[in-house]
Amino acid sequence: MYQATSITELRQYVQHWKDHGQSIAFIPTMGNLHAGHMSLIEKGQSLSDRTICSIFVNPMQFGPNEDWDHYPRTLEKDIALLEEIGCDLVYLPTASELYPEGLEQISQVQVTDLTDHYEGAHRPGHFTGVATVVLKLFNIVRPDVSVFGKKDYQQYRVISKMVEDFNLDVQIIGQETTREASGLATSSRNQYLDDAQTKKAALIYQVLQQTADQVNQGERDFEALQLRAIKDLDEAGFKTDYFCICNADNLLPATTEDRDLVILVTAAIDQTRLLDNIEISLW
Ligand code: PAF
Repeated sequence: MYQATSITELRQYVQHWKDHGQSIAFIPTMGNLHAGHMSLIEKGQSLSDRTICSIFVNPMQFGPNEDWDHYPRTLEKDIALLEEIGCDLVYLPTASELYPEGLEQISQVQVTDLTDHYEGAHRPGHFTGVATVVLKLFNIVRPDVSVFGKKDYQQYRVISKMVEDFNLDVQIIGQETTREASGLATSSRNQYLDDAQTKKAALIYQVLQQTADQVNQGERDFEALQLRAIKDLDEAGFKTDYFCICNADNLLPATTEDRDLVILVTAAIDQTRLLDNIEISLW
């Protein structure tokens, strides 16, 4: 696997592959790679000739009270996993090259409407940081396709809308969530859970499935379904931030006319906020 740390170096590899008519898939990550990331890489590999993964713990998407310093950095292990899976290149950008004049001086990408609710409300500025770094990475790498996990469904929609709004020439693919046998969505945050908490965390997906089943069976009182789900989770000891049945595209609260829905949930066990979602198609 090739490694590049500078933009010039990275562009040389990409140009060489493009000159040989090869297509490029790009998977941006913040490292601390797990099975979920590996499924993104595999998807990229199935869609293109060359696959590039970036690892960059982007300071711009962390709030003042969030722990950028303590975000788990496991570079050696990450590189071994990427080697093993046959990724072609790992790009390790430096903050000084991406933000040469610091975070305050960089132009910002604000993706309208989609970023105000849910994770955006909980983490002001977070999606601006994500969209800005992803736009920069797209312009540096110039991939044909880029794969994002649907576990972070709002992020996947934000990136898709940015690509639409700015007419970027890259296809965004949403990859299905990888799950443990219990149904728990694979996430870097799972490492903060002890055994009992891990067991309990499986309830989130069960409640999502139960609610989706009821919608599929014709229940349309979304408000009541949401309240029941929040009650079930809270009674089991979670602190539910939101559990919302939404239009899968614009993430507004779903109406009875909507056919493609997604239920977004964030529920915390002690200090660990767990995100998950389930899609529903009523066509
Ligand atoms: O999902 C992530 O790991 C990050 O938000 C991303 C897309 C790599 C941007 O920093």
